[in-house]
Amino acid sequence: MNNFHFYSPTEFVFGRGSENEAGELVKKYGGSKVLVHFGGGSAVRSGLLGRVTASLTAAGVPYIELGGVKPNPRDTLVYEGIELCRREGIDFILCVGGGSVIDSAKAIAAGVLYDGDFWDFYSGKAAVRKALPVGTVLTIAAAGSEGSGDTVVTQEATGLKRGAGGDALRPRFSIMNPELTCTLPPFHTACGAADIMAHVFERYFTNTTEVEITDRLCEAVLCTMVKEAPRVIADPNNYDARANIMWAGTVAHTNIVGVGRDQDWNSHNIEHELSGLYDVAHGAGLAVIMPAWMEFVMPHNPMRFAQVATRVWGCAMDFEHPENTALAGIRCFRRFLREIGLPINFAELGAREEDIPVLVQKLGLGEGRTGGFVHLNSEDVAQIYRIAAHADV
Ligand code: NZQ
Ligand code: ZN
Repeated sequence: MNNFHFYSPTEFVFGRGSENEAGELVKKYGGSKVLVHFGGGSAVRSGLLGRVTASLTAAGVPYIELGGVKPNPRDTLVYEGIELCRREGIDFILCVGGGSVIDSAKAIAAGVLYDGDFWDFYSGKAAVRKALPVGTVLTIAAAGSEGSGDTVVTQEATGLKRGAGGDALRPRFSIMNPELTCTLPPFHTACGAADIMAHVFERYFTNTTEVEITDRLCEAVLCTMVKEAPRVIADPNNYDARANIMWAGTVAHTNIVGVGRDQDWNSHNIEHELSGLYDVAHGAGLAVIMPAWMEFVMPHNPMRFAQVATRVWGCAMDFEHPENTALAGIRCFRRFLREIGLPINFAELGAREEDIPVLVQKLGLGEGRTGGFVHLNSEDVAQIYRIAAHADV
C-alpha cells in the first residue's frame, strides 16, 4: 500500500426530511447571504426548492436564486454566477441538484475569489487555493460531487469538457435524502449507477499490490450496485434501495475506497470527450466506454479482472485460462448495463464512428500517454473508441 493523506471534511446529513435542516446548516458554516443554485426545473417541480428556501428564511438567512444549470454544466452560466455573487455580496453557495449543479457552484465559488478567468483552473493554468464555502442538497446519486473536491465544466464555445480540483472545493455539508431521488426518470437513475460503478473501477484497476482493504471496500460498493440498481429501476419508490445507492455514490468518490493505491481514470478521460462533443449524459457515455476500455487493457493483468469477475459477478474461476474468467466478468458488466436500460455502443449513445479522429484529437494527448493502470497513447484510445462503437452483448 502507498502512503496517503485522506481528507474528507464534509458533514453528511442523511435521511428523510433532512433538506429542512439546510438553513441551520448554512448558518452553522458561516453563511450570511446565500446563492441558491439549481438546475433545469426538477427541484422547482417537486417542491424541493420551496422547502429549502423556506428553511433559509426560517433560519433568518437571506438568499438569491440562480437556476438553469444544464447537465454537463457550461462556463457561460458560471461567468454569470461569478458576477452575481460579487454584485450581491454572496458568502455561501447552496446547491440544490446533482453533479452538474454542484460542479457549476464549485466553479463559481472558486471564480469569485480569483482575479483572472476562472477557466484557468480547468485549463491547468492555475490551482484552486480558495473558494466560497459550498453546501449541497443532493437530488441524484451519481457523480459523488457532494463529497469530492472535484468539478467538471464544459466550455460552451469549444465543447471542451475539463475538470479542476482542490480541497477548498469540498462541500462544507451535504444533505442527502434518498426520497428526493425517487422522482428521477429510470434513465438518469441508471446513468448514476454506471457512474458510481465507474468511480470504483477507476480505483480498483491498479498496479499497486497488497491493497486488500480497499479491494474489498470497492467490491462491497460494486456488489451493492449490482443488487440495488435493478431494484430501483423496477420499483422507483423503494426507499431502502435508493438509500443504499445514495450512500454508495458518496463512498465511491470520497476516495475512501481508493487511498493508498495508484488509480487509472482513463475511462473518465475518454468519456468526457463523448459528453463534451455530443452532450450525452456522463453515465451513459461511461456505459459505452468502460467495458471497451476493460477489454482493451485486460491482458495487462488478467488476474485482477478475474478477481472482480468471481467476487462481484459470481463467475467461475478458470485457473488454466484466467483471461476467460476476466472476459466473462466484462460480459456480465455489459449485460448488466443493458438490463438497467443503458446504451452499450456508439449507435445507442448517438455517437458516430467517423468522429473518432475528432474525439482523439480533442483529448489532446499528442505524442504523450495517459492513465495510471495502462499508459495509453492516441492510437490505443482510438482502438478503445472503435471497440465501443461496435460493442454488443
Ligand atoms: O436540471 P434538472 O431539471 O434538475 O434535471 C436533472 C438533469 O436533467 C435531473 N435530475 C436530477 N435530480 C433529479 C432529476 N430529475 C428528477 N428528479 C430528481 N431528483 O437529472 C439530470 C442529470 O443531472 P446531473 O446533475 O447532470 O447528473 P449527475 O449527478 O450525473 O452529474 C453529471 C455531471 O457530473 C460530472 C459529469 O461529468 C457531469 O458533468 N462529474 C462530476 C464529478 C465530480 N465533481 O466529482 C465526478 C464525475 O466523474 C463526473 O465527471
Ligand atoms: Zn464519473
